[in-house]
Amino acid sequence: MDARPVGFSALDHQISLVFPNDLNVNGTLFGGKLLELGDWICAIVAKRHSQRVCVTLGLDSVRFLAPATSGDILVLKASLNKAWNTSMEVGLKVLAEDFRTGEQRHIFSAYFTFVALDETFRPIKIPPVIPETLDQKRRYEEAEMRRAKRLKT
Ligand SMILES: CC(C)(COP(=O)(O)OP(=O)(O)OC[C@H]1O[C@@H](n2cnc3c(N)ncnc32)[C@H](O)[C@@H]1OP(=O)(O)O)[C@@H](O)C(=O)NCCC(=O)NCCS
Repeated sequence: MDARPVGFSALDHQISLVFPNDLNVNGTLFGGKLLELGDWICAIVAKRHSQRVCVTLGLDSVRFLAPATSGDILVLKASLNKAWNTSMEVGLKVLAEDFRTGEQRHIFSAYFTFVALDETFRPIKIPPVIPETLDQKRRYEEAEMRRAKRLKT
């Protein structure tokens, strides 16, 4: 099975927009909306890498770092950190951009774990991923430590 570079599946600049009906009672972006959007984008990365149907096994290290509000542009960056036998970790970073000034704030981060499935919905082997840049190599190493922790819990 041929290994694929991180760039084969990464989504580095997906854009969305915060609408008034995405807000909670405080007038800021509802956290559940961000999780839904993140799951959707990260699932595409997993699907692109494995070229299989993928399901979300879990997410962790979820951080809502700053609020976003109506009219903000959301910039989503999702990348495959590491692929194991049938599972893979996708890291997500979301920035909120003020459309008036272009200023960007880091508002959200999380790691999603996906499992690739065969036609009978059983986990199936996936290709390894090749980290190329220094950041990709660091994330690749750190993903192994995170997986070890996950498997303990
Ligand atoms: C995901 C699912 C298919 C896994 O089934 P399973 O019988 O547990 O499969 P396995 O035990 O073979 O584990 C599959 C992979 O998950 C990994 N895994 C299991 N528990 C894990 C954990 N806590 N953290 C990280 N990885 C874990 C295994 O190590 C294996 O990966 P590997 O082959 O790369 O080593 C099954 O749990 C499922 O269908 N869950 C529901 C998914 C869903 O509905 N998601 C929401 C909608 S998309």
